[in-house]
Amino acid sequence: MNENRTRVLFFADVFGKPGRRAVAAALPALLTKYDPDFLFANVENLAGGRGVNFKTLGEMSDLGFHGFTTGNHVWDNREIFDILERDRRVLRPANLPDPADSPCPGAGHALFQNRGKSILLVNLIGRVFMEDCECPFSAADWILDGAPEGVPIMVDMHADATSEKYAMGWFLAGKVAAVVGSHSHVQTADERILPGGTAYITDVGMSGAFDSVIGMHPDPVIKRFKTKRPQGFRIATQNPGICCVVIDINEDGTAASIERIRHTVSHLDMNEEGGVE
Ligand SMILES: [Fe+2]
Ligand SMILES: [Fe+2]
Repeated sequence: MNENRTRVLFFADVFGKPGRRAVAAALPALLTKYDPDFLFANVENLAGGRGVNFKTLGEMSDLGFHGFTTGNHVWDNREIFDILERDRRVLRPANLPDPADSPCPGAGHALFQNRGKSILLVNLIGRVFMEDCECPFSAADWILDGAPEGVPIMVDMHADATSEKYAMGWFLAGKVAAVVGSHSHVQTADERILPGGTAYITDVGMSGAFDSVIGMHPDPVIKRFKTKRPQGFRIATQNPGICCVVIDINEDGTAASIERIRHTVSHLDMNEEGGVE
């Protein structure tokens, strides 16, 4: 790779233990092949599919991850409040409600530095088919207004609607190095460089059990759809795999390339009883 470029390897929703184990198994070969300057992941589903805790975050840190984004599941594990207070590498969406009398813990963007390179990582959340929150476009504006000069910017747009993610891509085209989508857990095949040099993909996709309904065992999910009654969901374990993107950023902060990666990790034995959370 061109020495002057900045390379980022980004994993979207890493789902539970199958996701963590798949990432751990696939990562050495990815690091050897791509040698990224920055390693990021969305961890909203890291701990048993629901939020993130110190233990699972520690596992990702031990693998060499530099920074973490989240999404609508950010508050699912109560440890997140301590995590956001103590660990500035973990972001929550920047556009969550932040009233003056009850400020939102943590931050929605952070500057990361490694190997003499810098990148500003931004976490946004959508409002279509999701719980309402502040405007992600306005949040992007104020973060960009205050961003340090000459530092490339990467945005994780955690959103459900393809239209909202595309709109953010075009809104930030030429202003940031990358807008990558997360939340749907299914990788899209629309990676490209938008005019102005912004890498874009609607959804990076999940790392976790691919024989699943977005990470969960299919049977209770099907029953839930058929009956409309609550069901005990459980994490799927079969056919684990990883989804990520590799983005190269030029010295001027524009993206040179985006490569989409999705493959199964077939040698993982996820059949052991229990402990799949
Ligand atoms: Fe997710
Ligand atoms: Fe999500």
